[in-house]
Amino acid sequence: MKLNIAVLPGDGIGPEVTAQAVKVLKAIAMEFNHVFTFRKALVGSSAMDKTGNPLPEETVNICKEADAVLFGAIGSPAYDHDPDAKVRPEQGLLGIRKALGLHTNIRPVIAYEDLLNKSSLKVKQIKDTNLVIYRELTGGIYFGERHLSDDGNTASDVCTYQRFEIERIAHGAFKAAQSRKRKLTLVDKANVLESSRLWRRIVKEIALQYSNVEVSYMYIDNAAMELIINPRQFDVILTENMFGDILSEEASVIVGSIGLLASASLGDKHAMFEPIHGAYTKAANKGIANPIASILSAAMLLDHFGLDDEAALVREGVDKSLKLHITTPDLNNKYDNISTTKVGDFIEDFINNPDETNLNFTNIHLGQSTII
Ligand code: IPM
Ligand code: MG
Repeated sequence: MKLNIAVLPGDGIGPEVTAQAVKVLKAIAMEFNHVFTFRKALVGSSAMDKTGNPLPEETVNICKEADAVLFGAIGSPAYDHDPDAKVRPEQGLLGIRKALGLHTNIRPVIAYEDLLNKSSLKVKQIKDTNLVIYRELTGGIYFGERHLSDDGNTASDVCTYQRFEIERIAHGAFKAAQSRKRKLTLVDKANVLESSRLWRRIVKEIALQYSNVEVSYMYIDNAAMELIINPRQFDVILTENMFGDILSEEASVIVGSIGLLASASLGDKHAMFEPIHGAYTKAANKGIANPIASILSAAMLLDHFGLDDEAALVREGVDKSLKLHITTPDLNNKYDNISTTKVGDFIEDFINNPDETNLNFTNIHLGQSTII
């Protein structure tokens, strides 16, 4: 298969982790005789530094021409602490989501057996968690009308949803539930918000078309608690833009590191794949950023094109790295010298030689001598 992939490394740790995902995709292309071409483009504060614009037009064009987009991370502390900034790096990410019409954001949350003790939650609570969050990505309060009064003392952000925006992601979420444990939970705040009541009404209607899916409804405040005390009860969580942002970051606590959570953002014409984590600028260029979320986002890219064996091999490589403790410091209390690049190299080598997973192989990757 020929795939033209736009790569938007972005800010902070974005370039380092994305480089590992590209490395892994190149190894997959070699192994399975595909032709993947990569075209880099600027986004975020790095784009602002060079062009003054967090989302240059050229970037939008490169993404529109590509079969898929691999996105790194976005954000900069310089803007985080300046509420008066007129232009912000995040506009690059929000802008590309909107420009490509990426309405459905899919965020899987899987508690890896080998990492159960890395979570600050109790093992018995999180064991066997396997859920997916369907987060609406181009509507709601993120994209509603904003207003700041002239005297600077009153502000508003409007949360608007239209029927079609709810319907299209709801169908996606129900279909996903049908191929999983056939459970869907709509998370909203329908006891207070009119927009949530619209979600509930529409999801109730659509549920009639998916009679083999068990549907439940949960308020966001309750869901925030249930996700921590009993995450196993969930299969597919369907929710609007901001609730999905918050819940998915909370869910990273179950998995043990936010550096593990990948996502796919799908529209009718385009698709983008990105870790759910941010730019984590403090960690940039230190070789400590976990590339697994980016590598698993690349696996979701392969899934999207029906390259199931390829995606499975990437995930096997990730599992192996976790099992053998070839991981960055956020997860590693066994070895202290495993860098971002090393994790990428290990998974790349695994793809090239899936059978050579003996101790020598591990030792080579740990930079230790081997005696045969
Ligand atoms: C995410 C991020 C973004 C969001 C930010 C960086 C704009 O937090 O993808 O979860 O809020 O959607
Ligand atoms: Mg977020």
